[in-house]
Amino acid sequence: MSEFISKVKRTHSCGALRAKDIGTTTVLFGWVQNRRDFGGLIFIDLRDRDGLTQVVFDPGISKEAHALAESFRSEWVVGIRGEVRSRGMQKNKKGEMVSATNAALATGEVEVYVSYAEVFNKSETPPFEVNENSSVTTSEEKRLEHRYLDLRRPSLQKKLITRSKMNAATRSYFHQNGFLELETPFMGRYTPGGARNFLVPSRLNPGKFYALAESPQLYKQLFMVAGFDRYFQIVKCFRDEDLRLDRQPEFTQIDIEMSFVAQEDIFGMIEGLLKRIWKEVHDLDLPMPFPRLDFDESMSKYGNDKPDLRFGMPHVVLNALIEKFGAEGGVGPMWETLQQKGLIKAMVVSPVAAGQHDQTVVKAKEEAFRKANPNPTAKVPPPPHELSRKEIDELEEYVKGMGAKGLARAKIAENGDWTQAPLFKNAKPELRAAILEATGAKPGDLILFQFGPESKVNTIMANLRVHLAKKLWLIPEFGAGGKWNFLWVVNPPLFELDEETGVWHAAHHAFTRPMDECLKYLEPDTFDPSKVYCYRYDVVLNGFEIGGGSIRLHDPEVQKKVFKAMGISDEEARSKFGFLLDALKFGAPPHGGLALGMDRLAFLITETESLRDVIPFPKTQKGTDLMTQAPGDVDEKQLRDLYVKSVPPAKS
Ligand code: AMO
Repeated sequence: MSEFISKVKRTHSCGALRAKDIGTTTVLFGWVQNRRDFGGLIFIDLRDRDGLTQVVFDPGISKEAHALAESFRSEWVVGIRGEVRSRGMQKNKKGEMVSATNAALATGEVEVYVSYAEVFNKSETPPFEVNENSSVTTSEEKRLEHRYLDLRRPSLQKKLITRSKMNAATRSYFHQNGFLELETPFMGRYTPGGARNFLVPSRLNPGKFYALAESPQLYKQLFMVAGFDRYFQIVKCFRDEDLRLDRQPEFTQIDIEMSFVAQEDIFGMIEGLLKRIWKEVHDLDLPMPFPRLDFDESMSKYGNDKPDLRFGMPHVVLNALIEKFGAEGGVGPMWETLQQKGLIKAMVVSPVAAGQHDQTVVKAKEEAFRKANPNPTAKVPPPPHELSRKEIDELEEYVKGMGAKGLARAKIAENGDWTQAPLFKNAKPELRAAILEATGAKPGDLILFQFGPESKVNTIMANLRVHLAKKLWLIPEFGAGGKWNFLWVVNPPLFELDEETGVWHAAHHAFTRPMDECLKYLEPDTFDPSKVYCYRYDVVLNGFEIGGGSIRLHDPEVQKKVFKAMGISDEEARSKFGFLLDALKFGAPPHGGLALGMDRLAFLITETESLRDVIPFPKTQKGTDLMTQAPGDVDEKQLRDLYVKSVPPAKS
């Protein structure tokens, strides 16, 4: 082993030296970012996770070190000892003396003149340069294949360092608040409902399978039954789902459960945690309490239960209005939708006056443009004022991509006329006036409409709302744009109707407590599952669900009624949830909890483009790991040992 490591210890990180260190001797270890040979002197930037330091090799100080530095290449790992000096003054191109300080670098006031250097290890020429440009110049596949090199990029290191800080803040917060960090098994018994599980064959129990935990839900409830009172865990969860922008097959939850609490107690505890994390990471004081929004209101105004409230553009439901005017209103397709018990929604898009754009968003948009167009002569487009005819046609294509038949619209002219509005050709003037009143649309505005099956209309309008906000520069493409809009979505219905089978099932899980005033709708005489609301809640940030939970059902009598409403018999309930039902019979305290998605939190707080940026070794959209080539093949014998046979999919 090198003396440099065994005897001479590192004195500073590569981001630590400042003007106060001038005149001292330092020992630095790190990677060669680049080398510049200026005849007599050689300069390198030495990099570690903390930053960069400029290091100078002067043959007048050490011939050996200078000779060694001539061989240095990018990504070699080296150690140096030298004297910290001021960067002092230097001549600029005009021959004037100016300060040589590099203001962009934390260590920019100093440089280190080397008296001794050693190479710990050489590096082959990397498949791509380790610098921030590589995220534009090198494909993500290539970077994921060599993730350990991509992870050397300062911006990715910074994100993972933030994530580590979030973990530390979370642990300290919960310990201070009397929570115990308790572990739960990853390999458990398969229970139906919820996400699709990954299955693990059991060699010792032929033909049987474990399921990888999709969350510690049942176990954390058992901790409450066992009397642990307050539990938390930063825990991996596994779900075999189709992946989206904000999903990974293995992800991390900050999971909690508390006994003897009401919904508001959980909200207070989680708000306190998020406040602590934002203070730690951004030195920001989040205002508390977060606003609460009813689930039903969220669905009608925004089309989903995770609205982005950084901008307006709410939806307006027109069902009652169309009903009032009847078939005579003159908008046949809307009237037909009403007959089919569908949903009719409108959304007003107002022009954004020049100078009214949020400057943080404008800056974020400009930065994104510069990144995508590195050519410095490329002109950043100005903030948009309103949508052109062509852009509105493009919107129509966008919604058709989500299964819409089209995008009905009306542009309100200065004189109040409706243009671009063939759907309303035969509409009664009173109906038009009523639509203007209901939506608040003014001359110059554009009204967009969707009508059809409820869930489809909601999804299309929800996505369209966010898409438009990005197009009109109301929010940046990604990142907060200086706005952190947290909210709780509360009071959702307990059951959802499966439209195909006509069966009611739990919208979340069957152990959520119904609201007391809704219990009557579980009784035979007044039975109506659609009216049963419950203590379930989601916490939302800028349009992303960052967490969800519920107050649990600890009363076996009510539990029976809930199962009955779902058409689940006692025997079936026993076979599915046996051990939890048993446990709830033995003095379960009232309890409730929540889980935050740690990856989503880290992704939002670091304002990054992809969830993969905050996960050290992430999977691709197809669930593969390009570095280790997982999932991979196994041989016949391994499968035989597990009593498993791999059969190719049947040809369709
Ligand atoms: P839920 O299923 O809502 O609740 O999950 C909690 C939070 O975890 C995050 N999340 C994900 N993040 C990344 N990739 C995924 N595939 C993924 N799936 C979920 C989300 C979500 O809000 N046991 C309950 C919690 C409880 O009731 O206490 C649960 O797991 O941010």
